[in-house]
Amino acid sequence: MPTQFSQSSTNLNSLAPRLLDWFAINGRHDLPWQQHQTHTPNPYIVWLSEVMLQQTQVTTVLPYFARFMESFPTVQDLAAAEWDMVAEHWAGLGYYARARNLHKGAKQLVEVINETGDFPQTLAGWEAISGVGPSTAGAIMAMGLHRYGVICDGNVKRVLTRWAAIDGDITKSATTKELWALAERLTPRENSGLFAQAMMDMGATLCTRSKPACLLCPLQDDCLAHAQGRETDYPVKAKKQPKPSKFSNALLIKDADGNILWLQRPDNGIWGGLWSLPLEFVEKISGKAAVKNTGKNIDKKLPEATAEQPLEVAINEKVYETEFTTAEQIINEWLIKNNLAAAPMNKTLLDDAPIKHSLTHFHWYLTPQSVTLNNEQTAEITQALQAAEININWLNADDAQATLGLPQAMVKILE
Ligand code: ADE
Ligand code: SF4
Repeated sequence: MPTQFSQSSTNLNSLAPRLLDWFAINGRHDLPWQQHQTHTPNPYIVWLSEVMLQQTQVTTVLPYFARFMESFPTVQDLAAAEWDMVAEHWAGLGYYARARNLHKGAKQLVEVINETGDFPQTLAGWEAISGVGPSTAGAIMAMGLHRYGVICDGNVKRVLTRWAAIDGDITKSATTKELWALAERLTPRENSGLFAQAMMDMGATLCTRSKPACLLCPLQDDCLAHAQGRETDYPVKAKKQPKPSKFSNALLIKDADGNILWLQRPDNGIWGGLWSLPLEFVEKISGKAAVKNTGKNIDKKLPEATAEQPLEVAINEKVYETEFTTAEQIINEWLIKNNLAAAPMNKTLLDDAPIKHSLTHFHWYLTPQSVTLNNEQTAEITQALQAAEININWLNADDAQATLGLPQAMVKILE
């Protein structure tokens, strides 16, 4: 019977044993979250590490993982922790939605444990946890519970598109389906955890994105991309639109003692729950315009609001609401009212070159602007923010770095 795959049954059947033999000798066996050498795997450890490893490399994750395990040795510890503590432990790993999902997921897991006496035991049970997608759920089933589980993450997709010369766009759902079907066909019923770890190690250490080490690869004899000498043509991925650029001022609002005003960001949106300087949106230009640097194609621009030109007239309401948090609106209006607006008036430019910070959906150019307040002004803005139930802190740069969960961009500004 012909298979639906571009590889023969013989090749499909022999892939797992070849990969497992390679893994036994050449795989990584000393990563602190690995559970394949114990009979009593800890799903908490696998869940935590898999979430950390979702968009981040092993070497980056290692010290973060160690600190998490030290501070939150069990899922109950993580669930009971204050968000600020979790954010501070996560700061620097990026993709903060993962940290928020992790904290929420810990609470969900504790609920399941309190109801059933144990961690979820099914794929669907794990997929119901915040931040756990199908591949992470498969990894936890296989490696965290020693049950049957299939993974199909970015590493696996790269290996499989090459080995089977799958040239569909991997951002398309038809290709994703094909790859999942192939991953399921290849995953052995027994030892799916070892197979998952072997796949990830192979993808990370041999079948790398730009320089695959085919000569060391256990799949080189039947790898179709290798046979064609076209390894790096796979996986096929639709070209991404260039990212837009956003320009903002980062306001260093200081009191008479040199303490800086910090705001906790709203839970939804960028840097949710972390602490940031108040940001003042200036303009946003499309990726194409940024690449051509024409200055045309301006998508959004905030007109200059000054004391002379009333705010209501100057501000394009829609841009204002989408680009400023409530706290930033309060601050912006207060600064303008008090003739303290950082730009264009009373501008103290600390650094001409703005800080560039790249996020998933845009490049962010942040220009630090300094404004110093007297005691009366400090009290007034503090009161205005507290009246709106905004969490604030007045802390100097060192104390802020030591005690608040700051996004990497804020650390860059302080440095
Ligand atoms: N990437 C995702 N999960 C991983 C794991 N368990 N080991 C190494 N790299 C990974
Ligand atoms: Fe990847 Fe090369 Fe192995 Fe093919 S032979 S799976 S391209 S490392």
